[in-house]
Amino acid sequence: VERRPDLLAEQLRYYRARAAEYDRTSFGVHTGERRAVPGVVDRLAPRGDVAELACGTGVWTVELARHATTLTAVDAAPEMLRLARRRAAGLDVRFVLADVYRWAPRRPFDVVFFAFWLSHVPTVQFAAFWAVVARALRPGGRALFVDELPSRAAHETFIDHEIVRRTLRGGSVHRVVKVFHEPSRLAGSLADLGWHATVTPIQHDWFVGSAVRRADS
Ligand SMILES: C[S@@+](CC[C@H](N)C(=O)[O-])C[C@H]1O[C@@H](n2cnc3c(N)ncnc32)[C@H](O)[C@@H]1O
Repeated sequence: VERRPDLLAEQLRYYRARAAEYDRTSFGVHTGERRAVPGVVDRLAPRGDVAELACGTGVWTVELARHATTLTAVDAAPEMLRLARRRAAGLDVRFVLADVYRWAPRRPFDVVFFAFWLSHVPTVQFAAFWAVVARALRPGGRALFVDELPSRAAHETFIDHEIVRRTLRGGSVHRVVKVFHEPSRLAGSLADLGWHATVTPIQHDWFVGSAVRRADS
């Protein structure tokens, strides 16, 4: 079995290389998915001190900024952060270059948000990732997330368990982690880790989730 850190490093290299074309090839720009983003953020109402993990080019960041009192956006790809900074120009956003798994915020947040990130967390890292989120939240703070439903798996080329192949426009081929979560099973996995979570399917074969630490956990 391959060491997962190697795969996570390869996944990050893929996103660094993809940054320049990300806005043209993500969010099914042709089917109008991007237009759904502001409404999804309004529905989640991410108020207070908000942290966004894996912010990418900032598509969600600029919408979060409409609700947040303070906003911190984290990504491990400098190429992504550069584009996000440009998109958020004029908005009060603190950008942080960091690996999510090693991210140690200096102060806790009311909300930790991540879009299209959870599906890139391998199952063996699932608990470690949620421990990072738990440490970053104030008591009563919410984890809010958006991702793809399992019906989206048909669009991927699986080459191994939880590993898909992606080809960039320049022809380079990469391996990326992809875990499709079924809403009720995801809520159950989070319950096992001490969260009270609701996970709800929405348009575009996406789901939204909200999770709060149980008082006894
Ligand atoms: C699918 S993109 C999602 C970007 C953005 N949230 C969106 O919805 O458009 C995944 C993002 O995760 C970032 N990333 C990959 N590995 C990471 C890591 N270990 N720590 C932080 N960010 C990482 C990539 O640079 C990329 O921006």
